[in-house]
This record gives sequence, structure tokens and C-alpha cells, in this order.
Amino acid sequence: MACRICSGRLHQFADFGSQPVSDAFVTPGDPAEEYFFRLAVGVCESCSMVQLLEEVPRERMFHEGYPYLSSGSAVMREHFWSLAERFLATELAGDDPFVVELGCNDGTMLQRVAEAGVRHLGVEPSGGVADLAAAKGVRVRKDFFEATTAAAIRDEDGPADVVYAANTLCHIPYMDSILSGVAALLRPGGVFVFEDPYLGDIVERASYDQIYDEHFYFFSARSVRGMARRHGFELVDVERLPVHGGEVRYTLARQGERTPAPAVAELLAAEDAAGISDLATLRAFAERVARGRDELVALLTRLRDEGARVYGYGATAKSATVLNYCGIGPDLVSFVSDTTPAKQGRLTPGSHIPVRGPEAFADPYPDYALLFAWNHADEIMAKEEAFREAGGAWILYVPEVRLV
Ligand code: TMP
Repeated sequence: MACRICSGRLHQFADFGSQPVSDAFVTPGDPAEEYFFRLAVGVCESCSMVQLLEEVPRERMFHEGYPYLSSGSAVMREHFWSLAERFLATELAGDDPFVVELGCNDGTMLQRVAEAGVRHLGVEPSGGVADLAAAKGVRVRKDFFEATTAAAIRDEDGPADVVYAANTLCHIPYMDSILSGVAALLRPGGVFVFEDPYLGDIVERASYDQIYDEHFYFFSARSVRGMARRHGFELVDVERLPVHGGEVRYTLARQGERTPAPAVAELLAAEDAAGISDLATLRAFAERVARGRDELVALLTRLRDEGARVYGYGATAKSATVLNYCGIGPDLVSFVSDTTPAKQGRLTPGSHIPVRGPEAFADPYPDYALLFAWNHADEIMAKEEAFREAGGAWILYVPEVRLV
């Protein structure tokens, strides 16, 4: 296997076995066969990019029926709205600015830009969520972004001041096409800003469920800087974000156009000190993950044997890795509660646990709730206070298995 960024040699450090497409919720009674692939992850010895070893075809993941809504959390809505305000006050404050968002999902961020009357375009291949964005007044192009798309957008709309992507760039294996497209689309002085789960947080918290089909790359400041330089960009800023279990927002500008902020050198030094891309660190991560799996399965088995009622909370894409890697099925978790309409009434991919709306969670409350949406823990625990008041306990599994 060769690195998808630089063709360097990859060293596998974890293997989660055969896994389904994480957002391919199954319709009960549908005889269609599920698609499985081998979920294994490695690190490049040359450029340090951590990446999956097998790629799932993009059309299997991102299509008309893609269910995930980025507006599904109040904290995330606030997160994207405040970023929109920041863009409007800074990079988009000039004369007739233009912003392009890659993977705009249901248009949470761009809705604010549209309301401000600023020129924008969302590029979104998943038709259902793109329609939701359009219904909010966001201008959307239903397409995968790549070099040809970038050229077409530049022809039609002119150069962009900002290209932005949230939880999208790490989904895309073919980075040469993306970065050459962004280079062609950005005006001189423009920036490419993207935010994705951070390798440093994944390693520190052993949050192995960040590893699933859609997350092809696990970025660090070092690997992003190397990737950027291959296409004439420089990493000029990094910002750690608390959302989605720990992310970094990276800002790229053309080489020589902006002076890197001190935060870049600081994060690079912290990464080196912690050795987050060292094979030894990553192998230790994999061992910790395997121990966590054994503990979680032991806990759920004991609770079942004691006759306890256990529900899941949040039919996240992340939960596909946990459920299928740990072999958790409806015998251990009777159903998963989720607010997303397109997931309700379906079964979790591979593990076939029913998904129900949030009203089912309280009717009656379980004894334990396995919190798959742990990245939204504060929001969910505050909303579900009555569950704990009724004697219930949350089961968390990162950074370690515990009850709260
Ligand atoms: P995410 O972790 O990838 O954002 O997915 C969160 C999932 O959890 C998504 O399917 C929506 C669901 N969810 C709930 O069911 N209730 C909630 O309160 C929140 C915040 C999310």
C-alpha cells in the first residue's frame, strides 16, 4: 500500500475488520445485500499522514439518501453560525466577496452568509441534504468537488475569497484533484479553511470510533503542512476546536502570501513532543482500543445477564465502528434513539439494531444508555437530565469505559 498523498510507504497499525458503510442504515425486510469493506488504518513513513488502507467508492457513501444532518446539534449550529459571522467580518468584508463551501450539507453555515446577502456556493453531492440547504436560501451545486468542478465554478462565478470545508476534506482520498482545484479557484490572497477531527485528540482519547469509511484521513498540523506544500500552499493558522471530540481548523494560503501564526509552530512542536504520528504511539493506541473493546463487551454482557435495559443514544456514523468491531447487536442494546428522520425506522448498518425517534428513549427510560454521540455529551446530558433523575446512567467508552 502506498500513501495517497505522497506515495510513501504505509505502516498499518490497527485493523477493525469487516465494516459496513457507516451511514447506510438498513430498511427492515429489504433483501439488498450490505456492502462491507476492510477498515484498517496506517501511517505514512514519509509524510506522516494517517489514512485508511481501503477506500469505499464515494457514490456508496454520498448520494440522494445520505442521512446525516450537520444541523442536528444546537452546539454545532452555534459553532457554524459564529464562524459565518467571523468570515463576514474578516475574509468576506471586502468588495463583492465570494465564498465556496465544500460539502455544505444542509447549509447551516452558508445560511448565515446568504442572509447577509453575500455571494456564495455550496458544493454538495448528497442530494437530499443539498435540497434542505436550498430550501434555506442557500445556493447549491449538487456535485462532488474536484479539479473540474473548481474550474467550472471559477468560469461561472469568478475567483473565491474563501474556500471552506467542515468535516469534508478528510472524507476525500483524491487530494491532488482537490488542492489543485482549490488553487485554481482561490483569488490571490484568498484562504482555504477546513476543520476535521484531529489525530492528536484521537490518539490521546483513544477515540477509535472516529475511524470509519467516511474518515479517510486523520490530519495533524505536520501532515497537513506537507500536503499543502505539495500544491504551493502554506499552513498559516491552526485553531483547536472542542467540537466533534476534538478538531483542528486549518487555514492555508498560497506560499509567500501570509506569515504563519505562532500557533502553527506551537502545534507542530506539541505534536513532535507527544509523538502522535510515531508508529510506536499508534501501536499503543491500537492496544488501548482493543482493551476498551473487551471492557465494553464485558460490561454490556454483564448488564444483559442482570436483566438491565440498555439503549443506545445517537445512531452516529462513528457507532458503526464500535458496534461492528465489538460485535454488539440487539441482544446487548435493544434500540438506538436518534433525532435524524432518515435514520428512524431503520436498522444500524451491519449490527442491525433498530433506530427509533427520541420519544422512545423516555418510554420507558432504560437503566443504561450507551452514548454513541459522546461528542455532544454536554448538550445531550443537559437535555436528558430526567433520565438520570429517574435512576439511569450513561455508558461512555472513550477515553475509557465508564458509567456516569
Ligand atoms: P455526529 O456525532 O456525527 O454529529 O452524529 C450525532 C448523531 O446523534 C446524529 O445522528 C444526530 C443524533 N443526535 C441525537 O439523536 N440527539 C441529540 O441531541 C444530538 C445532539 C444528536
